[in-house]
Amino acid sequence: MELTKFVDELPTIPTLKPNAILNGVPYYEVTMLQCHQQLHRDLPPTTIWGYNGMYPGPTIEAFSHQLIRVCWKNQLPTKHFLPVDKTVHGAEPPNPEVRTVVHLHGGATPDYSDGYPEAWFTNDFQQVGPYFVTKTYDYPNLQPSTALWYHDHAVGITRLNIYAGLSGFYLIRDTQEQMLNLPRGNYEVPLLVQDRSFNEDGSLYYPCEPEEPVEGVCPSVVPEFFGDTILVNGKVWPYLDVEPRRYRFRLLNASNSRFYNFSLSSNQFFYQIGSDQGLLEQPVMTKEILLGPAERADIIVDFSTQFGNTITLQNSAPSPFPGGDPPNPETTGLILQIRVIRPLCSLDQSTIPYYLTYMPTLSENLASKNRLLSLDMAKDAYGREIHLLDNKRWADPITECPKLGTYEVWSFINTTEDAHPIHIHLVRFQVLDRQPYNVDVYQQTDEIVTTGSKIPPPLNERGWKDTVIANPGEITRVIFAVGPFSGLYVWHCHILEHEDHEMMLPYIVIK
Ligand code: C2O
Repeated sequence: MELTKFVDELPTIPTLKPNAILNGVPYYEVTMLQCHQQLHRDLPPTTIWGYNGMYPGPTIEAFSHQLIRVCWKNQLPTKHFLPVDKTVHGAEPPNPEVRTVVHLHGGATPDYSDGYPEAWFTNDFQQVGPYFVTKTYDYPNLQPSTALWYHDHAVGITRLNIYAGLSGFYLIRDTQEQMLNLPRGNYEVPLLVQDRSFNEDGSLYYPCEPEEPVEGVCPSVVPEFFGDTILVNGKVWPYLDVEPRRYRFRLLNASNSRFYNFSLSSNQFFYQIGSDQGLLEQPVMTKEILLGPAERADIIVDFSTQFGNTITLQNSAPSPFPGGDPPNPETTGLILQIRVIRPLCSLDQSTIPYYLTYMPTLSENLASKNRLLSLDMAKDAYGREIHLLDNKRWADPITECPKLGTYEVWSFINTTEDAHPIHIHLVRFQVLDRQPYNVDVYQQTDEIVTTGSKIPPPLNERGWKDTVIANPGEITRVIFAVGPFSGLYVWHCHILEHEDHEMMLPYIVIK
């Protein structure tokens, strides 16, 4: 289906209002609902699942160190409208077909509120998973200002629930950020970027099985998914009219599998001021930004010299990444049209500060443990190729039990052909380096023979992160303080088709 580009205005995502303030704590209720939403001018309304019936969900805004509580409710149908594979772990009968649980991605959250994949619940809490603890989640927001996102995390069907629409922004503010005089209000624009495909009737298309069908399994999980249209804030290829001034964009790659290498058709420089977990020490001037699934970038673009021009936010990342086909310059290479046609309605007094925030450098000498963790390929019981973390599966005994308050280095040894965006719940980390090594020798002998020197992270990765791209043929090392809570968490590849199909493991922070 050919959809005309840039005919719908970029939706502004509303901010969620608390239902009450209880003992000084903002309390919210959010209900997951099945609804219809028009995703493009020429499409009939599409069935979606949305938080409060909206796709994307309403933006939650919190203040650093101010606790908020959210009661997440499920009023969804008991049958999924996307193809559920009941052979993947956690999706087998008698588990209910539709399960939900909400994870605040990047949140330093106590484990009972972290959205453990088996803490799921169904419509009206009629059934709950084995790890379900509470209906109301606590978010203490013990972290600096940044753009987090909340999304579904139910074991075995996360890819389908997020694809159906279950994701939204969660912004943390603090005084540091407020003092910086960054573009704000109408000049700060969150951009939630996802790829989707549609059937002729306007319904969301998600494949029933891989290109080469699997004997005896239908529907079957696919190894990855790439849609042929790009949506921003829930509209296909929207446009945004701007004034000739500075804008702050909060970029989020909320796609299932697609990586984006963002750039502007005006070929102009812009400034990255923050990464996943908050501000960088200094802005980084760049013409392109690569984001794997779940990664975020906080950028400032200056349109002051562009009045009258039309600029396209575009994508050049291949799919799969890095070895796949380049995006189609007419479709998946295009994201958002920005038209600099609004008159300047006031003088732009925002700044791009030279210095943003203090960024300590964690030295690897701090670490009491260095975990070598391979990213591998294997086959499941049906002969399907799967990706694993450290050759283990979800149901295997838990092996990673870091101690609260210590530092650890985790080294991701990627033996596969794909880049994997690896996300660790609870913690924020720094990227130490990436180093090429000999994959064949490693696979035959378990010995690490490096083939080049350690490459320090690029400037825009020298801040706090929660998701890191582990490239094929490289060892990617991250360091973090274990905490701030103990308990049961997970780490996983954020390609949702990988995560749902065994590329996710629990880990325990012990006291
Ligand atoms: Cu964005 Cu475990 O998730």
